[in-house]
Amino acid sequence: MITLKSTATWSCSVVKYTVAIAALGFLGILTPSAFGQAASTLHPMKVVGNTACAECHEEEVKAWTLSSHKRADSVHRDAKTRATADKIAKAMGLASGAAMTTSALCTECHFTRQKLGGALKVIGGVSCESCHGGGKDYLKIHGEKEKISSREERQKLSKAAGMLYPHDTHLVAENCFNCHIVRDEKLVNVGGHVARSKAFNLVSWSSGEVRHNFYTPNYQRSPKKNLATVKNRQRKMLVVGMLLDLRYSLTNLSKGKTAGGAYRKAMGSRAYTIINKELPAVIAKLGGAAAPSELIKIDEIAKGVKLGGKQSLVAEAAGALEEHIAAFSTGHDGSKLAGVDSLIPKTSKGTVWQP
Ligand code: HEC
Ligand code: HEC
Ligand code: HEC
Ligand code: HEC
Repeated sequence: MITLKSTATWSCSVVKYTVAIAALGFLGILTPSAFGQAASTLHPMKVVGNTACAECHEEEVKAWTLSSHKRADSVHRDAKTRATADKIAKAMGLASGAAMTTSALCTECHFTRQKLGGALKVIGGVSCESCHGGGKDYLKIHGEKEKISSREERQKLSKAAGMLYPHDTHLVAENCFNCHIVRDEKLVNVGGHVARSKAFNLVSWSSGEVRHNFYTPNYQRSPKKNLATVKNRQRKMLVVGMLLDLRYSLTNLSKGKTAGGAYRKAMGSRAYTIINKELPAVIAKLGGAAAPSELIKIDEIAKGVKLGGKQSLVAEAAGALEEHIAAFSTGHDGSKLAGVDSLIPKTSKGTVWQP
């Protein structure tokens, strides 16, 4: 239960959040993450395609070529998934699975979209820029060690030009969840699409077939070895991934129209597990009442949510979580989160590619 005091701060932060969003929208710079959940963080006109990255990131491109994200472009052709693709597509009113490459109902998650001149086309399955931001404006900046000698300056300029850096765990993770948790209720309840990737864990799902780390922690290129993510980042990914999963699940639960439908069930049961098992476990490992204050606040909000209750209240709670999740993400580099090490999955999703 939420005490009177915390209810007051809670509604106060919701108001602040809404005002901030309104102001951003007014200025025309509404970022997808400000919505909490967006179709895609990527503008097709900013996409240059992975061949432009290959010039300097040959190994990353190789690792990606062998991953499911590359193969996402053939779900409608693959013998194993063709029938399901047809079934889902037809239930959604499309002619056949092949329409996946052109219908926005599917392309936003199964492909990276590029717009050159007039036409919108899909490239490479889920390509580099779906996770790192459209490259058009940062391509010529982020690796310019000769012209821009300070790494900090390169990062600052590249971020301003739309680059999502791997160390920005919050932004990287939002991208994963935008695709791995479906927000279109009809696609699930009518189309029969899975509501979310089962057992998605940001650490284990990015450390197997998705892994492509060819820089040492001090940014020396290491083309001969696909390195494991440094421990500090793993810890942060574990916690931030869980928190965002909770926020997305609650937001979707609050928007779903059919009580008892597969969609709301999937969102509600995931939120339930995080609120009652995963979040308390993280807090306990980090010292209980001595755990980071953002987590204590998040726990307070989460415990006050009635999953089967009024949807507007569930939506409010999801919105109220965001400022604390963002604060946690900004405030921690992982060095003080060693307590969660035993919660980091021992296995990875898929096989790591080594040169
Ligand atoms: C002309 C060479 C070049 C091209 C083309 C290039 N990169 Fe890079 N990239 C680099 C260099 C050099 C670094 C290391 C930067 C540093 O040390 O600050 C780098 C670093 C990165 C990083 C890691 C940043 C970090 O500090 O953690 C990402 C992510 C990245 N590039 C993505 C891309 C993507 C996506 C593309 C294609 C859209 C691309 N790059 C194209 C040269 C390039
Ligand atoms: C919100 C993002 C999203 C949208 C929109 C989406 N998909 Fe998917 N789809 C995914 C993800 C993520 C997976 C992998 C799920 C997993 O991990 O099990 C997937 C898996 C699939 C599979 C493989 C299922 C299997 O049995 O392995 C098919 C087929 C598929 N989608 C078809 C479609 C079709 C057709 C559409 C459009 C009508 C569509 N998807 C729209 C994200 C999406
Ligand atoms: C599914 C999302 C996704 C896709 C697709 C993707 N990346 Fe990444 N990339 C990441 C994540 C997450 C990290 C950070 C990994 C980590 O810390 O373990 C990363 C890290 C990197 C790095 C820095 C590695 C380091 O040492 O810090 C570079 C460079 C990079 N990616 C380039 C690329 C290129 C080029 C492509 C396309 C061929 C690509 N990425 C496709 C998510 C993605
Ligand atoms: C633009 C949408 C999109 C983004 C962004 C995205 N994914 Fe995926 N991912 C997919 C789709 C679609 C599939 C299923 C592809 C298939 O079945 O061929 C998939 C498959 C995977 C798989 C293989 C799953 C399996 O069952 O074997 C892993 C692992 C994965 N994604 C991890 C990640 C991680 C980690 C991130 C964020 C760093 C991420 N993805 C970001 C769309 C996306």
